[in-house]
Amino acid sequence: MADDKSKKKRILTGVRPTGALHLGHYVGALHNWLDLQDKYECYFLIADYQALGDHFHEVDLIRDSVLQVTLDWLAVGLDPEKSSFVIQSYVPEHAELTMLLSFITPLGMLERNPTLKTEIDSLPVERRTVGFYNYPMSQVADILLPRAHLVPVGEDQAPHIEMTREVARKFNRMFGNVFPEPETLIGKVPRLSGTDGQGKMSKSKGNVILLKDDEKTVTKKVRSMFTDPNRIRADIPGRVEGNPVFEYHDAFNPDKAQIEDFKARYRLGTVGDVEVKVALAKALNEYLEPIRERRAYYEQHMDVVEEAIMSGVRRGRAIAAETMEMVRDAMKISSYTSNWK
Ligand code: TRP
Repeated sequence: MADDKSKKKRILTGVRPTGALHLGHYVGALHNWLDLQDKYECYFLIADYQALGDHFHEVDLIRDSVLQVTLDWLAVGLDPEKSSFVIQSYVPEHAELTMLLSFITPLGMLERNPTLKTEIDSLPVERRTVGFYNYPMSQVADILLPRAHLVPVGEDQAPHIEMTREVARKFNRMFGNVFPEPETLIGKVPRLSGTDGQGKMSKSKGNVILLKDDEKTVTKKVRSMFTDPNRIRADIPGRVEGNPVFEYHDAFNPDKAQIEDFKARYRLGTVGDVEVKVALAKALNEYLEPIRERRAYYEQHMDVVEEAIMSGVRRGRAIAAETMEMVRDAMKISSYTSNWK
């Protein structure tokens, strides 16, 4: 078994714990991770250090979100026996590796990073901290610490993976071969729109449906969803393309014949928004019900949740210790006194 495992390629990916997870996370990431955990040795990281980057003023939120994310992961079916759930701050080697790598990383790599630039520009000046500026460096360390081969992420994260490859190459050239050069696995699925139809689903915009939302909440959110704004009456032909109600139908309603029928009638103006939305709420609730049931189970079995985390953290710590030994040896900072006698 151990042998078997060591032959599999390693994956690391993660999320910042800044709230419970939503449908956008499911479609864009978790759904894909469920498949990956059978083929690879997966490390799923809850990056609470990184969350401090733009949430240092909300440490209670981060702390609570670590638990929310864990519950969401278990609820969707990520399996802590197949994969390792790791809380970043429980493996402080993340911080050490971030610091050590920062000495060989040119400032220009951060200055040129388009994702970082956009994010910094959107922060008020007093929240532009050194730590935030350096978060891509810590993400490099997240990936290199378990010596990951593959990193499944959304497109916005690609610059961070490119930076990881450059840093790994430079480290290996300077100090000897320690790190594989990780590849990006970009998800095929496009980002899910928010319920307001104004760009992607994101907590900060308040346009999300959470995986843990109950039936009533989901129904209410669907009822007030953005559709085609030109359609003020049900007998006006409507637009299906770019309409989040149909985007969600496509993503979550297994009854394809019903969707085709709705689309045809919507284009003709022979179906009301209400009918389409009622069917969507039903489909979504059926989709989410098993997830909610599993979540409820884990909420009542916190000892199982804790063990899920601690077994992942143990595996994360073991591989981190191994890597750091190689890194310290390579950088000659491991044992000054051992050969003085
Ligand atoms: N930056 C990622 C996000 O906001 C989260 C993350 C932290 C991550 N460390 C990582 C993703 C390492 C991939 C690999 O979603």
